Amino acid sequence: MKNKRILVIIFVCAALCVYAAKPLLLEEPTLKSVLSSKFLIGVALNSAQITGCDTNAVKIIKRHFNSVVAENCMKCQAIHPEENRYDFRLADKFVKFGEDNNMFIIGHCLIWHSQLALWFCVDKNGENVSPEILKTRMKNHIYTIVGRYKGRVKGWDVVNEAIMEDGSYRRSRFYEILGEDFIPLAFQYAHEADPDAELYYNDYNMHATGKRNAVVKLVNEMKTKGLRIDAVGMQGHLGMDYPILKDFEQSILAYASTGVNVMITEWDMSALPAVNHTANISDTLAYKKVLNPYPDFLPDSVSKRWNSKMADYMNLFIKYSNVISRITAWGVSDGDSWKNGFPVRGRKDYALLFNRKYQPKEFVKKLLKEPLKLDRDK
Ligand code: XIL
Repeated sequence: MKNKRILVIIFVCAALCVYAAKPLLLEEPTLKSVLSSKFLIGVALNSAQITGCDTNAVKIIKRHFNSVVAENCMKCQAIHPEENRYDFRLADKFVKFGEDNNMFIIGHCLIWHSQLALWFCVDKNGENVSPEILKTRMKNHIYTIVGRYKGRVKGWDVVNEAIMEDGSYRRSRFYEILGEDFIPLAFQYAHEADPDAELYYNDYNMHATGKRNAVVKLVNEMKTKGLRIDAVGMQGHLGMDYPILKDFEQSILAYASTGVNVMITEWDMSALPAVNHTANISDTLAYKKVLNPYPDFLPDSVSKRWNSKMADYMNLFIKYSNVISRITAWGVSDGDSWKNGFPVRGRKDYALLFNRKYQPKEFVKKLLKEPLKLDRDK
């Protein structure tokens, strides 16, 4: 009798344990679940995703990511097309999407020479405006946008792509009119508009020594002036043979040495051959084939190399997760990637973490299985 009772108790306990463990067993790992102790894992959203039309992508975004950035709709051209006209329709939806899904929302970007509304730096005759007028325009632009999303957008790419690879300042209209001051001014205005928002300097080719030294100097100078800067954003548009991982690592260390965080803000890796920008790419059919070698699918050998290199980068990011606070992929699936159109239009690239069928790439699958030990099978 006693034995029978003990057996019953053991049976009930075992059943309870299995029941309690069941939800755990059912919950498949996601990027955010495996990486949340390391850094935020974000993604850039296009308009089809923001409006919910691309339901496949939206599922992935909600499942795997805990941070979002707008790929285009907060850029000056889109959000402030004329001096007295803002268009917040898509940006409002983007911010709501992030809030509804408890995501860390990033604003991209406040001051950038590209995708800049035509009116911004010039007068009616197309001549550069005076420094005072440009300062007022920058202030209004930043106050209005940052102010509108105050407390909701948690971090801003304040200035994008202002320094060249050799460390010199880009000769943008902002620079022509205001000199180096336009950068600290933009940060000052952004901080005044939302004192709680994180503020970032963001740029590409951040592994390059000249740019690295100049950005380190810039950050140090801004800190000396008492301006808020929370992170340096390394865009992270990579190629299969570019950059050298060691250079990228050196830059992570250099930016972190200033005391700010590092973020990988626009991560992707083109699987296609790099392009010489000066080449006349419409020369011959053969040349076009060389530039767009995988119009149907990515061969296994290339895919293996691509995955192995992406794993190397993810391992590097994990290694430095004490200073890296966010990784953001520049799009959801390969079909969404800007790399299909840049720097050559009409190529088929394979640059993102999910393929055109919305399936995770091999290195992502491995990461989900064994987060801290990505295999490096070449
Ligand atoms: C790209 C977008 O992905 C494209 O859709 C758009 O046509 C051009 O801009 N650096 C940046 C991003 O900071 O804003 C750019 O995004 C890619 C390069």
